[in-house]
Amino acid sequence: MSPFQLPESDLSRARDEAATCIGVDELGPNLHLLTLEAATASRAALPGEFAQLQVEPGPLLRRPFSFCDLDPGRGTVSFYLRVYGEGTRRLAHLTPGSTVRLLGPLGRGFSLPETRASSLLVAGGVGAAPFPHLATQLLARGERVHWLNGAAGSDQLFPLRRMPGGLAGSVQVTDDGSSGRRGLVTDALPELLGGVDRVYACGPNPMLQAVSEMAARLRPEALVEVSIEAPMGCGFGTCLGCSIPLRFRGAPVPGLCCRQGPVLGADQVDWEALRRQPAHLE
Ligand SMILES: Cc1cc2nc3c(=O)[nH]c(=O)nc-3n(C[C@H](O)[C@H](O)[C@H](O)COP(=O)(O)OP(=O)(O)OC[C@H]3O[C@@H](n4cnc5c(N)ncnc54)[C@H](O)[C@@H]3O)c2cc1C
Ligand code: FES
Repeated sequence: MSPFQLPESDLSRARDEAATCIGVDELGPNLHLLTLEAATASRAALPGEFAQLQVEPGPLLRRPFSFCDLDPGRGTVSFYLRVYGEGTRRLAHLTPGSTVRLLGPLGRGFSLPETRASSLLVAGGVGAAPFPHLATQLLARGERVHWLNGAAGSDQLFPLRRMPGGLAGSVQVTDDGSSGRRGLVTDALPELLGGVDRVYACGPNPMLQAVSEMAARLRPEALVEVSIEAPMGCGFGTCLGCSIPLRFRGAPVPGLCCRQGPVLGADQVDWEALRRQPAHLE
């Protein structure tokens, strides 16, 4: 437990594994699905947890990525990547057979319902990354799962065919109207919140704040969990590089995205203080 009693990630399941690249599929401009053979992680990672990946050889620090999908039978894991700088560029250009160091699973993931629930997954851009794994787990438990997927344009939407079958509903929105409805995820959210017990969201931090505030207003009985982003060095609580402002019993407290997060209850985030932090990937 942290000094503030917010639960922390379970580091006892994390392993440093030599993973082998199986392939990289291009899903859009600068958007790639990297599949790795990583037997240990494929059996251990829970939805919303992340791995620190490092291309070898290289001077770069490891970079954090959410587990997108797992196949424990084949011993593979996949990651949905947006090329941003040198680390993501190297990962997107891996060739089959090359090696990546994978440290994980790390962080705290999404909580799964203990009783029958209807869940809404809300993705913004590359924030779709953790949802194939989460949807698979929820559907396997017999839950109703709705999917709201938003991006700037049609070529930046995470493809519906990459989500597991059996979704109760799916709505796509794009900023430019090139696919699905024109607008932001928050434009489509109000009509989808009715009857929902859980809202899970991942995307840019301002989108997460807007989704959290709207859900609290229109569906206060729903549990809302968000996957927050912060720049990370180590991924396991030693470098203090991923500091984020949280709330505990209503009071502001400092937290670490890699240990108390990246998934947090919407009411555990100090949204106004987070908004004042320098923007990174938004
Ligand atoms: C828990 C977590 C899960 C993530 N999951 C995914 C995912 O599934 N798919 C995906 O594409 N991306 C994900 N990211 C973001 C990803 O880690 C960054 O895009 C990546 O580290 C950038 O590395 P780079 O070497 O390409 O860019 P760099 O050259 O390192 O950075 C380019 C710019 O991005 C900023 N930056 C670097 N890392 C981060 C970061 N982690 N958060 C905010 N700003 C940063 C830098 O300050 C710099 O301005 C995740 C981040 C976190 C914290
Ligand atoms: S990334 Fe090092 S403490 Fe969180």
